[in-house]
Formats: sequence, structure tokens, C-alpha cells
Amino acid sequence: MEMDPDVRRYVGGHPRSREDAERKFREGPLQEVSGRLGVWATILKSNGQYVGRCGLYPHMNSSGGLVAGEATLSFYIARANWGHGVASEAAKAFVEFGWKQLELSRIVATVQVGNGASVRILERLGFDLISTEVGPRSFLKFALPSPEQRNRRE
Ligand SMILES: CC(C)(COP(=O)(O)OP(=O)(O)OC[C@H]1O[C@@H](n2cnc3c(N)ncnc32)[C@H](O)[C@@H]1OP(=O)(O)O)[C@@H](O)C(=O)NCCC(=O)NCCS
Repeated sequence: MEMDPDVRRYVGGHPRSREDAERKFREGPLQEVSGRLGVWATILKSNGQYVGRCGLYPHMNSSGGLVAGEATLSFYIARANWGHGVASEAAKAFVEFGWKQLELSRIVATVQVGNGASVRILERLGFDLISTEVGPRSFLKFALPSPEQRNRRE
């Protein structure tokens, strides 16, 4: 996945070397997590095949501080398995996990402009576009308040 230019198009922009990919994987997804906020191996229910990683990881503010009660949604699926609803199913499950198990007040997500599949998944789950960051690579910031927060506003 890390060496595939299609997978990396909107996440970093360029494929990683095998060495870089292994190092990044050890420093990122394989690190111990606290508070149950981490990405999980994503497998196909039909045969148990590993096809990527999805989950909720800590939401850090621009100064690097942890935003309490919030998490960032992430999905990352191998090219051969795109278009079969895997990321949609995982994203929906993690949103539910975020409300019911972690009692979060809000889930956020950042998507590079052009990543239409990610936008589609988030919009279908009810995420709202809250801001746009324009630069050499531009990003869309999405957020979804918990059902409790939404009820409070109504
Ligand atoms: C984004 C990604 C996770 C989607 O995974 P997936 O399992 O193929 O997603 P799903 O099949 O669940 O859903 C994709 C939806 O987007 C739609 N879609 C695909 N390409 C699209 C595009 N260019 N524009 C708009 N919609 C698009 C699909 O039709 C589908 O919608 P539908 O269910 O209504 O038909 C996958 O492409 C990926 O891992 N990409 C590389 C890493 C990455 O970009 N991660 C996200 C970082 S924010």
C-alpha cells in the first residue's frame, strides 16, 4: 500500500520506498496506543485477508495539544479492494465505536482536495465541511458532532 502511487496520491503524494514504509509502519500503526485511540488492522470478513487500516486516532490541535473528547477518523485501503464498501463499513463502525464506547463529543477528518471517495464516505455519514486549508496541497476539514451534541443544538 505504501509503495502504491494510487494509494499515496492524496496521503503524502508520493509512494514510499520499502524501507521508509516499514519504518513508518513501526513508528505509527505498530506503536502502543493509549485510551483505545489507534488505527486497527482491517480485514475482509469473508476470508480474514488484511486489506488496510482504519480507525480513530487522537485529534491534535495546531500547537500539538490533545483535543479532549475528540478523535480523528482515518481509512486506508489497498487498491485491489477499493470500491467494495470496505472503508464505508469501517468508517461507520468506528463512528459508532466513538460515540458508544469512547463517549466522544466530536469526530473530525482531514481530506486532501481531490480525494472524492473520502469526501463521499464522510458526507454519507453526515460529516460537515467546517474549513478549507489552501496551500501547495489543499485540505478539507470535516467534523461530526456526537448525537448528544447535535440534540443539544436543536
Ligand atoms: C479513500 C478510500 C479509503 C476509499 O475506500 P473504499 O473501500 O474504496 O471506499 P468505499 O467503497 O467504501 O466507498 C467509496 C465511495 O466513494 C465513491 N467514489 C470513488 N471515487 C470517487 C470519486 N473520485 N469522486 C466521488 N466519489 C467517489 C464510490 O463510488 C463509493 O461511493 P458509493 O458507495 O456511493 O458507490 C481508498 O480509496 C483509499 O484507501 N485511498 C488511499 C488512502 C486514502 O486516500 N485514505 C483517505 C485519506 S482521507
